Amino acid sequence: MSKGKVRIGIVGSGGMANNNARNIAHNNAAELVAIASRNIETGSNLAKQYNAHFMPNWHEMVQRKDLDGIVVCTANDSHSEIIIGSLEYNKHVFTEYPLARSLEEGKIAVKAAISKKRVLRVSHNEPVSEKHQAIRQEIEHLGQLLVASFIRLTPGRGARPEILFNLQISGPPAHFFIYHIYPIVDLFGQAKWVEANGIYNNLNDSGSYDQFVNSVTVGFENGGIGHWIWSGGIEIQSAEQHHRYVLDKGTIINSGAEWQLSTKSGLESITPTSVQYPSVVDLWLNEVLDNNLASAQIDATKALDAIRVSLLAEEAMKENRRIPIHYSD
Ligand SMILES: NC(=O)c1ccc[n+]([C@@H]2O[C@H](COP(=O)([O-])OP(=O)(O)OC[C@H]3O[C@@H](n4cnc5c(N)ncnc54)[C@H](OP(=O)(O)O)[C@@H]3O)[C@@H](O)[C@H]2O)c1
Repeated sequence: MSKGKVRIGIVGSGGMANNNARNIAHNNAAELVAIASRNIETGSNLAKQYNAHFMPNWHEMVQRKDLDGIVVCTANDSHSEIIIGSLEYNKHVFTEYPLARSLEEGKIAVKAAISKKRVLRVSHNEPVSEKHQAIRQEIEHLGQLLVASFIRLTPGRGARPEILFNLQISGPPAHFFIYHIYPIVDLFGQAKWVEANGIYNNLNDSGSYDQFVNSVTVGFENGGIGHWIWSGGIEIQSAEQHHRYVLDKGTIINSGAEWQLSTKSGLESITPTSVQYPSVVDLWLNEVLDNNLASAQIDATKALDAIRVSLLAEEAMKENRRIPIHYSD
């Protein structure tokens, strides 16, 4: 680190690369030094905007001695390769979710961060939010979980999101919607088995489809069932999502607006406590500056637990059977 600033290189130059570049530029503890992008046009434009070096090859960027951290903003199928490649050169890593497209690579990434003593954080903003902490506090008093259920309807509004609705690049919806799995695993613990179903309409050879439904069910080690349904398609016009966490002494509810707690005393709002960080990348920068490996390691391990669910669900969909989840390795 030079002059107390974390020197950053970003990989990718799409939507999230632009978002993260903006957040990094607003953080006085960071300096955006380089952008690596296979897309020369968007990559060099982004680099110019922040007065950073443009590099067409991320392999070369992660070897730079004037960088402390790498921010991975590419599509899902390349995250783990870039994370592992960056850790090899002793860089701290912030990656857009999901951690990896394969469980093996996810495990290698987390192990490499631990052995290299580097801060690896996945961009899951929900679990570090004030709202999530308030929900966690309520759950502590509600006894045993019966079911945590989540339903989402995703609109295409007339077009296919080409990268997202692609099984090969993004994985199934259960995987690219990992940010709906992580918070539930964070609240209710590890799952011991997974069952899943998937339907894709007009699936073509390149992995694209027009409509989908994915349903995933897990049994938690601590008891209770987790259940997610994602559905969506080109012709669907508006988004919808519903959470229900049913526990012995109350139910936590959200249907797109505020979070509420329903108990025998009635219905009350769940009020978030104060906001600590403007974005997850700011949290990561702080962890890098403080050399706070512990909290990022907990996050990376939970991000791995979350993809255990989504990737084993993919296997369960293909094989049409319940898959046990093992944590020993
Ligand atoms: N944290 C959040 O709230 C949030 C929100 C949306 C998405 N995401 C995640 O962020 C990631 C990026 O999403 P996005 O919306 O920014 O996508 P995007 O706009 O399509 O940008 C992706 C960028 O990565 C590049 N890229 C893709 N695959 C690559 C590879 N194998 N090697 C090198 N470069 C590659 C693309 O280059 P080309 O232009 O050449 O294709 C493009 O510059 C995804 O993993 C997504 O799940 C996070």
